[in-house]
Amino acid sequence: MEKLKGLILSGGAGTRLRPITHTSAKQLVPVANKPVLFYGIEALVDAGVTEIGIVIAPETGDEIREAVDDGSALGAAITYIPQAEPLGLAHAVLTAEEYLGSDPFVMYLGDNLLRDGITGLVEAFRRDEPDALILLTQVLEPEHYGVAELNGDSVVRLVEKPKDPPSDLALVGVYMFKPVVFEAARAIEPSARGELEITDTIQRLIETGHQVEHHRVKGWWKDTGQLADMLEANRLVLEDLEPHVAGECVDCEIVGRVVVEEGARLERCRVRGPAVIGAGSRLADSYVGPYTAIAAGCEVIRSELEHSILLAGASISDLPSRMEASLLGRNVRISRAEGLPKTLRMLVGDRSEITLP
Ligand code: TTP
Repeated sequence: MEKLKGLILSGGAGTRLRPITHTSAKQLVPVANKPVLFYGIEALVDAGVTEIGIVIAPETGDEIREAVDDGSALGAAITYIPQAEPLGLAHAVLTAEEYLGSDPFVMYLGDNLLRDGITGLVEAFRRDEPDALILLTQVLEPEHYGVAELNGDSVVRLVEKPKDPPSDLALVGVYMFKPVVFEAARAIEPSARGELEITDTIQRLIETGHQVEHHRVKGWWKDTGQLADMLEANRLVLEDLEPHVAGECVDCEIVGRVVVEEGARLERCRVRGPAVIGAGSRLADSYVGPYTAIAAGCEVIRSELEHSILLAGASISDLPSRMEASLLGRNVRISRAEGLPKTLRMLVGDRSEITLP
């Protein structure tokens, strides 16, 4: 098979992850202190796909360009493909047509994470050379996903978020296509939600007699498009953490798999892993529980937290109770007012969510 290109979709509106996505790309939210998007680029590079186009949106494209640059640090050669509006996954494919040309390609949704990468899938595509190869996994609530109906080993139908799912096999956000996909994407109409759907495009390939094969995911798969999934992805990645303490720990108790990055300073803290504490962060008199990722330059003072993600520069001090299942944006500050009356004083951005004990 000729050269394979990669296409990562990193545009989109990210409505389900507001307010984080008001100011920042969801694909750059860190999972175990590394942007989600970087895991995708690495998965492609590991599978031998280094020539990669990244679809970007007008609002967040510059931030993505800045973070990924030309991709050489990750072993990739990146080309940016601006998509003016998030009109659907198949619209993103059409937007990239000129870049992809006549090469077969792997399409990877920039907010997806697969534990075992995509090497097996890419090998199967190179070997069997179908027109499309989709990746499937069993899920508990198929009505929230694109779902495949199989007859024996053949994919016979694909439906987006069906009320009455034909199976429990969801489409994972990685697809492989030959250039015939452009023709199919051009032939379909926008769905009820106004998007050109990739499921309809693949359905069209099936109906026009093209060969659509499927492959099952072995390890876990996560779409990090909303808070609960983002926290779950963080938990799953931290499960495989290699412990390493490079920062300074004074009078601390560190238990389990913990990474303390260079330049972090912990005083009188108890850290129970798996957890990661970013470079230059300062923690004092605090408890950090399992499944916590604290990015660079954060501050945690006289507080307890677990199963949470703090983005760069976030700061918490004197929290009255333990924080859990939380995602704090960049430079968010949570502190306690001194003295009486005991009031809550807040400056909270649009669509933020706060749950008090
Ligand atoms: P989704 O998560 O399905 O869509 P979204 O980003 O618009 O999010 P929400 O539903 O919360 O508003 O998109 C999957 C991936 O594909 C994600 O990385 C964004 C990207 N994408 C594009 O690049 N272009 C598009 O037109 C769409 C819809 C998504």
